[in-house]
Amino acid sequence: IHTDPTVFVIFGGTGDLNMRKLAPAIYNLFLDGWLPGNFAVVGTGRTKFTDEEYRAKLLEGINSFSRSGKADKAKWDEFQKHVFYQVSDATDSATYKEFSHRIDAFNAEWKTKANVIYYLAVSPNFFPIIASNLAKAGLTKDTKRTRIVIEKPFGHDLDSAKELNALLANIFDECQIYRIDHYLGKETVQNIMAFRFANSLFEPIWNRNFIEHVQISVTESLGVEDRGDYYDGSGAMRDMIQNHLLQLLCLVAMETPINFDASEVRDRKVEVLRAMRKFSPEDVRNSAVRGQYGQGWMTGKEVPGYREEAKVDAESNTETFAAIKFFVDNWRWQGVPFYVRTGKRMHQSASVITIQFKDVPHKIFPAESTESWQQNRLIISIQPEMSIRLQVQAKRPGIDMILNAVDMVFDYKGTYTNQAPEAYETLLLDAMLGDQTLFMRGDQVETAWELVMPILHAWQNKKSLSFPNYSADSWGPEAAEALIARDGYHWFTLP
Ligand code: BG6
Repeated sequence: IHTDPTVFVIFGGTGDLNMRKLAPAIYNLFLDGWLPGNFAVVGTGRTKFTDEEYRAKLLEGINSFSRSGKADKAKWDEFQKHVFYQVSDATDSATYKEFSHRIDAFNAEWKTKANVIYYLAVSPNFFPIIASNLAKAGLTKDTKRTRIVIEKPFGHDLDSAKELNALLANIFDECQIYRIDHYLGKETVQNIMAFRFANSLFEPIWNRNFIEHVQISVTESLGVEDRGDYYDGSGAMRDMIQNHLLQLLCLVAMETPINFDASEVRDRKVEVLRAMRKFSPEDVRNSAVRGQYGQGWMTGKEVPGYREEAKVDAESNTETFAAIKFFVDNWRWQGVPFYVRTGKRMHQSASVITIQFKDVPHKIFPAESTESWQQNRLIISIQPEMSIRLQVQAKRPGIDMILNAVDMVFDYKGTYTNQAPEAYETLLLDAMLGDQTLFMRGDQVETAWELVMPILHAWQNKKSLSFPNYSADSWGPEAAEALIARDGYHWFTLP
Protein backbone atom coordinates (compact mmCIF):
# COMPACT_ATOMS: atom_id res chain seq x y z
CA ILE A 1 0.00 0.00 0.00
CA HIS A 2 1.30 3.40 -0.96
CA THR A 3 0.34 6.51 0.99
CA ASP A 4 0.82 10.02 -0.37
CA PRO A 5 2.38 12.90 1.58
CA THR A 6 -0.23 13.93 4.12
CA VAL A 7 -0.96 16.76 6.51
CA PHE A 8 -3.35 15.91 9.36
CA VAL A 9 -4.97 19.00 10.83
CA ILE A 10 -6.57 17.93 14.09
CA PHE A 11 -9.23 20.29 15.43
CA GLY A 12 -9.63 19.44 19.10
CA GLY A 13 -5.90 18.78 19.12
CA THR A 14 -5.64 19.08 22.88
CA GLY A 15 -8.82 17.10 23.55
CA ASP A 16 -9.43 13.70 25.01
CA LEU A 17 -10.14 11.91 21.73
CA ASN A 18 -6.84 13.01 20.26
CA MET A 19 -4.89 11.99 23.34
CA ARG A 20 -6.59 8.61 23.77
CA LYS A 21 -7.24 7.54 20.22
CA LEU A 22 -6.00 9.70 17.34
CA ALA A 23 -2.43 10.44 18.38
CA PRO A 24 -1.76 6.82 19.44
CA ALA A 25 -3.30 5.65 16.15
CA ILE A 26 -1.14 7.94 14.00
CA TYR A 27 1.92 6.96 16.02
CA ASN A 28 1.22 3.24 15.54
CA LEU A 29 0.66 3.77 11.82
CA PHE A 30 4.09 5.41 11.81
CA LEU A 31 5.67 2.50 13.74
CA ASP A 32 4.13 -0.03 11.38
CA GLY A 33 5.45 1.81 8.34
CA TRP A 34 2.11 2.96 6.91
CA LEU A 35 2.88 6.67 6.90
CA PRO A 36 4.68 8.29 3.97
CA GLY A 37 8.13 9.86 4.50
CA ASN A 38 6.52 13.28 4.27
CA PHE A 39 3.74 13.74 6.75
CA ALA A 40 2.78 16.29 9.40
CA VAL A 41 0.39 16.31 12.31
CA VAL A 42 -0.85 19.79 13.13
CA GLY A 43 -2.81 19.86 16.36
CA THR A 44 -4.94 22.90 16.89
CA GLY A 45 -6.96 24.29 19.78
CA ARG A 46 -7.65 27.39 21.84
CA THR A 47 -5.00 26.79 24.51
CA LYS A 48 -1.52 28.16 23.89
CA PHE A 49 1.26 25.61 23.50
CA THR A 50 4.65 25.68 21.87
CA ASP A 51 5.43 22.80 19.52
CA GLU A 52 7.65 21.31 22.25
CA GLU A 53 4.94 21.53 24.90
CA TYR A 54 2.42 20.01 22.55
CA ARG A 55 4.74 17.16 21.61
CA ALA A 56 5.25 16.40 25.32
CA LYS A 57 1.49 16.33 25.79
CA LEU A 58 0.98 13.94 22.88
CA LEU A 59 3.72 11.71 24.22
CA GLU A 60 1.84 11.47 27.51
CA GLY A 61 -1.28 10.37 25.62
CA ILE A 62 0.67 7.83 23.59
CA ASN A 63 2.45 6.45 26.65
CA SER A 64 -0.85 6.00 28.46
CA PHE A 65 -3.10 4.78 25.66
CA SER A 66 -1.13 3.30 22.78
CA ARG A 67 -1.60 -0.43 22.20
CA SER A 68 2.15 -0.66 21.63
CA GLY A 69 2.83 0.59 25.16
CA LYS A 70 5.31 3.27 26.14
CA ALA A 71 6.95 4.98 23.18
CA ASP A 72 10.45 3.92 22.25
CA LYS A 73 12.80 6.93 22.61
CA ALA A 74 14.43 6.72 19.19
CA LYS A 75 11.14 6.14 17.37
CA TRP A 76 9.43 8.94 19.25
CA ASP A 77 12.27 11.35 18.48
CA GLU A 78 11.82 10.54 14.82
CA PHE A 79 8.03 10.87 14.99
CA GLN A 80 7.89 14.11 16.96
CA LYS A 81 9.71 16.03 14.24
CA HIS A 82 6.47 15.71 12.28
CA VAL A 83 4.26 17.15 15.05
CA PHE A 84 3.27 20.82 15.27
CA TYR A 85 0.82 22.94 17.16
CA GLN A 86 -1.18 25.95 16.13
CA VAL A 87 -3.23 27.94 18.58
CA SER A 88 -6.50 28.79 16.90
CA ASP A 89 -9.90 30.35 17.12
CA ALA A 90 -12.20 28.29 14.95
CA THR A 91 -14.43 31.31 14.31
CA ASP A 92 -11.62 33.60 13.13
CA SER A 93 -10.59 33.75 9.47
CA ALA A 94 -6.98 34.49 10.52
CA THR A 95 -6.74 30.93 11.86
CA TYR A 96 -7.50 29.50 8.43
CA LYS A 97 -5.04 31.83 6.71
CA GLU A 98 -2.38 30.42 9.00
CA PHE A 99 -3.36 26.86 8.07
CA SER A 100 -3.11 27.83 4.46
CA HIS A 101 0.42 29.22 4.94
CA ARG A 102 1.50 26.12 6.81
CA ILE A 103 0.16 23.79 4.15
CA ASP A 104 1.86 25.86 1.44
CA ALA A 105 5.10 25.63 3.41
CA PHE A 106 4.85 21.83 3.66
CA ASN A 107 4.12 21.60 -0.04
CA ALA A 108 7.14 23.78 -0.83
CA GLU A 109 9.40 21.78 1.47
CA TRP A 110 8.16 18.43 0.15
CA LYS A 111 8.05 19.67 -3.44
CA THR A 112 4.60 18.18 -3.95
CA LYS A 113 0.93 18.75 -3.32
CA ALA A 114 0.10 16.90 -0.12
CA ASN A 115 -3.21 15.36 0.89
CA VAL A 116 -4.77 17.31 3.71
CA ILE A 117 -7.08 15.63 6.23
CA TYR A 118 -9.06 17.98 8.45
CA TYR A 119 -10.11 15.96 11.46
CA LEU A 120 -12.96 17.49 13.47
CA ALA A 121 -12.51 16.00 16.94
CA VAL A 122 -14.57 18.80 18.44
CA SER A 123 -18.01 19.38 19.83
CA PRO A 124 -20.63 19.15 17.03
CA ASN A 125 -21.64 22.81 17.27
CA PHE A 126 -18.24 23.58 15.71
CA PHE A 127 -18.74 21.32 12.68
CA PRO A 128 -20.59 23.94 10.58
CA ILE A 129 -18.31 26.79 11.69
CA ILE A 130 -15.10 24.95 10.85
CA ALA A 131 -16.39 23.51 7.58
CA SER A 132 -17.61 26.92 6.37
CA ASN A 133 -14.41 28.68 7.38
CA LEU A 134 -12.25 26.08 5.66
CA ALA A 135 -14.26 26.69 2.51
CA LYS A 136 -14.06 30.47 2.79
CA ALA A 137 -10.28 30.24 3.08
CA GLY A 138 -10.19 28.15 -0.10
CA LEU A 139 -8.86 25.13 1.78
CA THR A 140 -11.40 22.60 0.49
CA LYS A 141 -11.29 23.24 -3.24
CA ASP A 142 -9.00 20.40 -4.19
CA THR A 143 -11.58 17.61 -4.12
CA LYS A 144 -8.96 14.94 -4.75
CA ARG A 145 -6.57 15.93 -2.02
CA THR A 146 -8.57 17.49 0.80
CA ARG A 147 -10.79 15.44 3.09
CA ILE A 148 -12.79 16.16 6.18
CA VAL A 149 -13.32 13.62 8.95
CA ILE A 150 -16.36 14.20 11.13
CA GLU A 151 -16.68 12.56 14.50
CA LYS A 152 -20.02 11.53 15.90
CA PRO A 153 -22.56 12.62 16.91
CA PHE A 154 -23.59 13.40 13.35
CA GLY A 155 -26.66 15.47 14.16
CA HIS A 156 -28.82 15.40 17.25
CA ASP A 157 -31.88 14.23 15.36
CA LEU A 158 -33.06 13.76 11.78
CA ASP A 159 -33.49 17.48 11.07
CA SER A 160 -30.09 18.52 12.36
CA ALA A 161 -28.41 15.62 10.54
CA LYS A 162 -30.09 16.74 7.30
CA GLU A 163 -29.01 20.29 7.92
CA LEU A 164 -25.42 19.26 8.51
CA ASN A 165 -25.41 17.04 5.44
CA ALA A 166 -26.78 19.91 3.36
CA LEU A 167 -24.16 22.31 4.67
CA LEU A 168 -21.34 19.84 4.00
CA ALA A 169 -22.72 19.05 0.55
CA ASN A 170 -22.48 22.75 -0.31
CA ILE A 171 -18.79 22.74 0.49
CA PHE A 172 -17.50 19.26 -0.25
CA ASP A 173 -18.03 16.43 -2.67
CA GLU A 174 -19.37 13.35 -0.86
CA CYS A 175 -16.03 11.69 -1.72
CA GLN A 176 -14.29 14.19 0.57
CA ILE A 177 -16.51 13.54 3.60
CA TYR A 178 -15.53 10.83 6.09
CA ARG A 179 -18.21 10.36 8.76
CA ILE A 180 -16.62 8.17 11.38
CA ASP A 181 -18.30 5.33 13.20
CA HIS A 182 -15.35 3.79 14.98
CA TYR A 183 -17.14 0.45 15.40
CA LEU A 184 -16.71 -0.14 11.68
CA GLY A 185 -12.94 -0.01 12.09
CA LYS A 186 -12.83 -2.72 14.74
CA GLU A 187 -11.08 -5.87 13.53
CA THR A 188 -13.84 -8.20 14.62
CA VAL A 189 -16.49 -5.99 13.05
CA GLN A 190 -14.69 -5.97 9.70
CA ASN A 191 -14.46 -9.71 10.01
CA ILE A 192 -18.26 -10.04 9.90
CA MET A 193 -18.10 -9.26 6.19
CA ALA A 194 -15.15 -11.59 5.63
CA PHE A 195 -16.91 -14.35 7.52
CA ARG A 196 -20.19 -13.94 5.69
CA PHE A 197 -18.93 -13.30 2.18
CA ALA A 198 -15.70 -15.30 1.93
CA ASN A 199 -17.20 -18.62 3.06
CA SER A 200 -19.67 -20.73 1.15
CA LEU A 201 -20.94 -22.40 4.30
CA PHE A 202 -23.09 -19.71 5.87
CA GLU A 203 -24.80 -17.87 3.02
CA PRO A 204 -27.34 -20.67 2.27
CA ILE A 205 -28.58 -20.65 5.87
CA TRP A 206 -28.31 -16.89 6.44
CA ASN A 207 -32.00 -16.16 6.24
CA ARG A 208 -35.44 -16.55 7.78
CA ASN A 209 -35.63 -20.23 6.89
CA PHE A 210 -32.82 -21.15 9.25
CA ILE A 211 -32.29 -18.23 11.60
CA GLU A 212 -34.74 -17.84 14.45
CA HIS A 213 -33.56 -14.60 15.90
CA VAL A 214 -30.52 -12.31 16.19
CA GLN A 215 -29.19 -10.49 19.25
CA ILE A 216 -26.81 -7.55 19.23
CA SER A 217 -25.66 -6.63 22.69
CA VAL A 218 -23.13 -3.92 23.51
CA THR A 219 -22.87 -3.55 27.26
CA GLU A 220 -20.40 -1.38 29.15
CA SER A 221 -19.47 -1.46 32.81
CA LEU A 222 -18.36 2.18 32.76
CA GLY A 223 -20.80 4.94 33.65
CA VAL A 224 -20.87 8.33 31.90
CA GLU A 225 -17.52 9.24 33.47
CA ASP A 226 -16.80 12.95 32.89
CA ARG A 227 -19.07 13.26 29.84
CA GLY A 228 -22.25 14.10 31.76
CA ASP A 229 -22.86 17.36 29.88
CA TYR A 230 -22.75 15.67 26.48
CA TYR A 231 -24.45 12.46 27.53
CA ASP A 232 -27.39 14.02 29.34
CA GLY A 233 -28.44 15.67 26.09
CA SER A 234 -27.92 12.44 24.20
CA GLY A 235 -28.70 9.08 25.83
CA ALA A 236 -28.17 5.48 24.77
CA MET A 237 -30.35 5.67 21.63
CA ARG A 238 -28.45 8.59 20.17
CA ASP A 239 -25.05 7.68 21.55
CA MET A 240 -24.96 4.00 20.59
CA ILE A 241 -28.01 2.61 18.80
CA GLN A 242 -28.46 5.21 16.05
CA ASN A 243 -24.89 4.57 14.94
CA HIS A 244 -22.82 1.67 16.29
CA LEU A 245 -25.55 -0.91 16.91
CA LEU A 246 -27.49 -0.21 13.74
CA GLN A 247 -24.25 -0.49 11.79
CA LEU A 248 -23.62 -3.90 13.33
CA LEU A 249 -27.17 -4.89 12.43
CA CYS A 250 -26.57 -3.79 8.83
CA LEU A 251 -23.46 -5.96 8.58
CA VAL A 252 -25.38 -9.00 9.78
CA ALA A 253 -28.44 -8.36 7.61
CA MET A 254 -27.04 -6.88 4.38
CA GLU A 255 -27.29 -8.60 1.02
CA THR A 256 -24.08 -9.72 -0.66
CA PRO A 257 -22.37 -6.81 -2.41
CA ILE A 258 -21.18 -7.39 -5.99
CA ASN A 259 -17.68 -6.40 -4.93
CA PHE A 260 -15.92 -4.67 -2.06
CA ASP A 261 -16.20 -1.15 -3.48
CA ALA A 262 -17.31 1.54 -1.05
CA SER A 263 -20.45 2.41 -2.98
CA GLU A 264 -21.52 -1.24 -3.32
CA VAL A 265 -21.03 -2.02 0.36
CA ARG A 266 -22.70 1.19 1.47
CA ASP A 267 -25.63 0.67 -0.90
CA ARG A 268 -26.28 -2.79 0.52
CA LYS A 269 -26.11 -1.47 4.08
CA VAL A 270 -28.47 1.43 3.56
CA GLU A 271 -30.95 -0.98 2.00
CA VAL A 272 -31.16 -2.76 5.34
CA LEU A 273 -31.93 0.49 7.15
CA ARG A 274 -34.55 1.32 4.55
CA ALA A 275 -36.18 -2.09 5.03
CA MET A 276 -36.38 -1.80 8.79
CA ARG A 277 -39.89 -1.58 10.19
CA LYS A 278 -40.86 1.91 11.34
CA PHE A 279 -42.16 2.24 14.89
CA SER A 280 -45.74 3.27 15.62
CA PRO A 281 -46.45 4.66 19.13
CA GLU A 282 -47.78 1.22 20.03
CA ASP A 283 -44.58 -0.46 18.79
CA VAL A 284 -42.59 1.89 21.03
CA ARG A 285 -44.63 0.71 24.01
CA ASN A 286 -44.28 -2.97 23.11
CA SER A 287 -40.87 -3.26 21.51
CA ALA A 288 -38.66 -0.59 23.10
CA VAL A 289 -37.38 -0.53 26.67
CA ARG A 290 -35.41 2.28 28.27
CA GLY A 291 -33.45 2.27 31.48
CA GLN A 292 -31.36 4.52 33.69
CA TYR A 293 -28.84 3.25 36.17
CA GLY A 294 -29.10 3.86 39.86
CA GLN A 295 -26.44 3.67 42.50
CA GLY A 296 -24.72 0.34 43.07
CA TRP A 297 -21.51 -1.51 43.78
CA MET A 298 -18.98 -2.32 41.12
CA THR A 299 -15.95 -4.44 41.93
CA GLY A 300 -16.28 -3.63 45.61
CA LYS A 301 -16.67 0.13 45.12
CA GLU A 302 -19.82 2.14 45.55
CA VAL A 303 -20.70 4.04 42.39
CA PRO A 304 -23.23 6.87 42.06
CA GLY A 305 -26.49 6.62 40.19
CA TYR A 306 -26.74 8.42 36.84
CA ARG A 307 -28.68 11.35 38.31
CA GLU A 308 -25.90 11.89 40.84
CA GLU A 309 -23.17 12.06 38.18
CA ALA A 310 -21.41 15.38 37.49
CA LYS A 311 -23.17 17.66 34.98
CA VAL A 312 -26.28 15.49 34.90
CA ASP A 313 -29.74 16.85 35.70
CA ALA A 314 -30.85 15.55 39.12
CA GLU A 315 -34.20 14.64 37.56
CA SER A 316 -32.81 13.53 34.23
CA ASN A 317 -35.08 11.66 31.84
CA THR A 318 -32.10 10.48 29.75
CA GLU A 319 -31.80 6.74 29.15
CA THR A 320 -28.49 5.04 29.86
CA PHE A 321 -29.87 1.73 28.61
CA ALA A 322 -32.03 0.80 25.66
CA ALA A 323 -33.30 -2.52 24.35
CA ILE A 324 -35.25 -2.63 21.11
CA LYS A 325 -36.83 -5.36 19.05
CA PHE A 326 -36.41 -4.52 15.38
CA PHE A 327 -37.63 -6.22 12.22
CA VAL A 328 -36.15 -6.04 8.74
CA ASP A 329 -39.07 -6.21 6.36
CA ASN A 330 -37.56 -7.86 3.33
CA TRP A 331 -37.55 -11.26 1.68
CA ARG A 332 -34.53 -12.56 3.61
CA TRP A 333 -35.51 -11.50 7.11
CA GLN A 334 -39.29 -11.40 7.26
CA GLY A 335 -40.44 -12.40 10.76
CA VAL A 336 -36.95 -12.69 12.28
CA PRO A 337 -36.61 -10.45 15.35
CA PHE A 338 -33.37 -8.53 15.86
CA TYR A 339 -33.02 -7.78 19.57
CA VAL A 340 -30.60 -4.97 20.22
CA ARG A 341 -29.49 -3.72 23.61
CA THR A 342 -26.90 -1.39 25.04
CA GLY A 343 -26.30 0.12 28.43
CA LYS A 344 -23.84 1.75 30.77
CA ARG A 345 -22.91 0.47 34.23
CA MET A 346 -23.83 -3.04 33.24
CA HIS A 347 -22.49 -6.17 34.86
CA GLN A 348 -20.07 -6.89 32.03
CA SER A 349 -18.37 -4.98 29.23
CA ALA A 350 -18.98 -7.10 26.18
CA SER A 351 -20.03 -6.58 22.57
CA VAL A 352 -21.54 -9.77 21.25
CA ILE A 353 -23.70 -10.71 18.27
CA THR A 354 -25.64 -13.95 18.63
CA ILE A 355 -27.34 -15.63 15.73
CA GLN A 356 -29.68 -18.33 16.92
CA PHE A 357 -30.68 -20.95 14.39
CA LYS A 358 -33.97 -22.80 14.38
CA ASP A 359 -34.26 -26.05 16.26
CA VAL A 360 -33.98 -29.42 14.51
CA PRO A 361 -37.30 -30.33 12.89
CA HIS A 362 -37.55 -33.60 14.82
CA LYS A 363 -35.62 -34.83 17.85
CA ILE A 364 -34.56 -38.45 17.50
CA PHE A 365 -32.80 -38.56 20.86
CA PRO A 366 -34.99 -39.08 23.91
CA ALA A 367 -35.11 -36.28 26.47
CA GLU A 368 -33.24 -38.38 29.06
CA SER A 369 -30.22 -38.66 26.74
CA THR A 370 -29.81 -34.91 26.64
CA GLU A 371 -27.72 -33.32 29.34
CA SER A 372 -28.10 -29.89 27.81
CA TRP A 373 -29.86 -28.88 24.63
CA GLN A 374 -28.97 -25.72 22.82
CA GLN A 375 -30.21 -24.77 19.39
CA ASN A 376 -27.26 -24.01 17.14
CA ARG A 377 -25.88 -20.58 17.69
CA LEU A 378 -23.20 -18.53 16.05
CA ILE A 379 -21.67 -16.11 18.52
CA ILE A 380 -19.54 -13.29 17.21
CA SER A 381 -17.70 -11.71 20.10
CA ILE A 382 -16.41 -8.30 19.12
CA GLN A 383 -14.78 -7.27 22.40
CA PRO A 384 -13.11 -7.72 24.79
CA GLU A 385 -12.94 -11.36 23.71
CA MET A 386 -12.31 -11.53 19.98
CA SER A 387 -13.77 -14.79 18.78
CA ILE A 388 -16.41 -16.52 16.72
CA ARG A 389 -17.96 -19.62 18.19
CA LEU A 390 -20.44 -22.06 16.80
CA GLN A 391 -22.50 -23.88 19.39
CA VAL A 392 -23.45 -27.37 18.36
CA GLN A 393 -24.80 -30.48 20.04
CA ALA A 394 -22.31 -33.33 20.49
CA LYS A 395 -22.14 -36.70 22.13
CA ARG A 396 -20.40 -36.55 25.47
CA PRO A 397 -17.63 -39.16 25.68
CA GLY A 398 -18.79 -42.30 27.48
CA ILE A 399 -20.54 -45.62 27.05
CA ASP A 400 -23.96 -44.07 27.01
CA MET A 401 -25.41 -41.75 24.38
CA ILE A 402 -25.67 -38.45 26.18
CA LEU A 403 -25.76 -35.16 24.32
CA ASN A 404 -24.51 -31.80 25.44
CA ALA A 405 -23.87 -28.41 23.84
CA VAL A 406 -20.26 -27.65 22.90
CA ASP A 407 -18.47 -24.75 21.22
CA MET A 408 -16.36 -24.80 18.08
CA VAL A 409 -14.18 -21.77 18.64
CA PHE A 410 -12.17 -19.48 16.37
CA ASP A 411 -10.31 -17.34 18.83
CA TYR A 412 -8.01 -14.50 17.71
CA LYS A 413 -5.63 -15.04 20.62
CA GLY A 414 -5.08 -18.68 19.79
CA THR A 415 -5.01 -18.18 16.02
CA TYR A 416 -2.93 -15.07 15.40
CA THR A 417 0.19 -13.81 17.08
CA ASN A 418 0.20 -10.27 15.70
CA GLN A 419 -1.65 -7.58 17.62
CA ALA A 420 -4.81 -6.28 15.98
CA PRO A 421 -4.69 -2.58 15.05
CA GLU A 422 -7.02 -0.20 16.84
CA ALA A 423 -10.14 0.88 14.95
CA TYR A 424 -8.79 4.41 14.55
CA GLU A 425 -5.62 3.16 12.87
CA THR A 426 -7.62 1.34 10.21
CA LEU A 427 -9.95 4.29 9.70
CA LEU A 428 -7.23 6.93 9.55
CA LEU A 429 -5.28 4.88 7.04
CA ASP A 430 -8.45 4.45 4.95
CA ALA A 431 -9.03 8.20 5.05
CA MET A 432 -5.46 8.70 3.83
CA LEU A 433 -6.01 6.20 1.04
CA GLY A 434 -9.36 7.72 0.08
CA ASP A 435 -11.27 4.53 0.85
CA GLN A 436 -14.75 5.30 2.21
CA THR A 437 -16.00 1.72 2.63
CA LEU A 438 -15.91 1.84 6.42
CA PHE A 439 -17.32 5.35 6.72
CA MET A 440 -20.92 6.47 6.90
CA ARG A 441 -22.52 7.97 3.83
CA GLY A 442 -24.94 10.87 4.27
CA ASP A 443 -28.01 8.80 3.39
CA GLN A 444 -27.05 6.04 5.85
CA VAL A 445 -26.89 8.52 8.70
CA GLU A 446 -30.22 10.07 7.78
CA THR A 447 -32.00 6.73 7.34
CA ALA A 448 -30.74 5.58 10.73
CA TRP A 449 -32.06 8.79 12.30
CA GLU A 450 -35.42 8.33 10.58
CA LEU A 451 -35.70 4.91 12.17
CA VAL A 452 -34.95 5.98 15.74
CA MET A 453 -36.89 9.28 15.73
CA PRO A 454 -40.33 7.84 16.70
CA ILE A 455 -38.75 6.11 19.70
CA LEU A 456 -36.87 9.24 20.74
CA HIS A 457 -40.02 11.34 20.38
CA ALA A 458 -42.08 8.98 22.49
CA TRP A 459 -39.46 8.87 25.22
CA GLN A 460 -38.92 12.61 25.24
CA ASN A 461 -42.62 13.34 25.43
CA LYS A 462 -43.25 10.97 28.29
CA LYS A 463 -40.98 11.24 31.27
CA SER A 464 -40.10 7.87 32.73
CA LEU A 465 -41.53 7.61 36.22
CA SER A 466 -39.57 4.49 36.99
CA PHE A 467 -36.03 5.93 36.59
CA PRO A 468 -33.63 4.83 37.95
CA ASN A 469 -34.80 1.33 37.05
CA TYR A 470 -31.64 -0.75 37.15
CA SER A 471 -28.80 -0.75 39.57
CA ALA A 472 -25.16 -0.48 38.62
CA ASP A 473 -23.57 -3.89 38.00
CA SER A 474 -26.85 -5.46 36.82
CA TRP A 475 -28.04 -6.57 33.38
CA GLY A 476 -30.40 -3.63 32.97
CA PRO A 477 -34.09 -3.17 33.72
CA GLU A 478 -36.38 -6.15 34.17
CA ALA A 479 -38.49 -4.98 31.27
CA ALA A 480 -35.56 -5.72 28.95
CA GLU A 481 -35.59 -9.35 30.07
CA ALA A 482 -39.36 -9.43 29.61
CA LEU A 483 -39.05 -8.00 26.08
CA ILE A 484 -37.13 -11.03 24.89
CA ALA A 485 -38.63 -13.58 27.33
CA ARG A 486 -42.10 -12.90 25.87
CA ASP A 487 -40.83 -14.49 22.65
CA GLY A 488 -39.34 -17.44 24.53
CA TYR A 489 -35.69 -16.33 24.45
CA HIS A 490 -33.22 -14.80 26.86
CA TRP A 491 -30.26 -12.46 26.43
CA PHE A 492 -27.14 -14.39 25.72
CA THR A 493 -23.98 -13.59 27.69
CA LEU A 494 -20.53 -15.07 27.34
CA PRO A 495 -19.37 -16.86 30.50
C1 BG6 B 1 -18.75 6.02 21.83
C2 BG6 B 1 -19.80 6.47 22.80
O1 BG6 B 1 -19.14 6.31 20.51
O2 BG6 B 1 -18.54 4.63 21.96
C3 BG6 B 1 -19.41 6.10 24.21
O3 BG6 B 1 -19.99 7.87 22.70
C4 BG6 B 1 -19.10 4.63 24.31
O4 BG6 B 1 -20.46 6.45 25.14
C5 BG6 B 1 -18.10 4.23 23.24
O5 BG6 B 1 -18.57 4.37 25.60
C6 BG6 B 1 -17.89 2.74 23.22
O6 BG6 B 1 -16.84 2.45 22.37
P1 BG6 B 1 -15.90 1.18 22.60
O7 BG6 B 1 -14.97 1.19 21.43
O8 BG6 B 1 -15.22 1.39 23.91
O9 BG6 B 1 -16.82 0.00 22.63
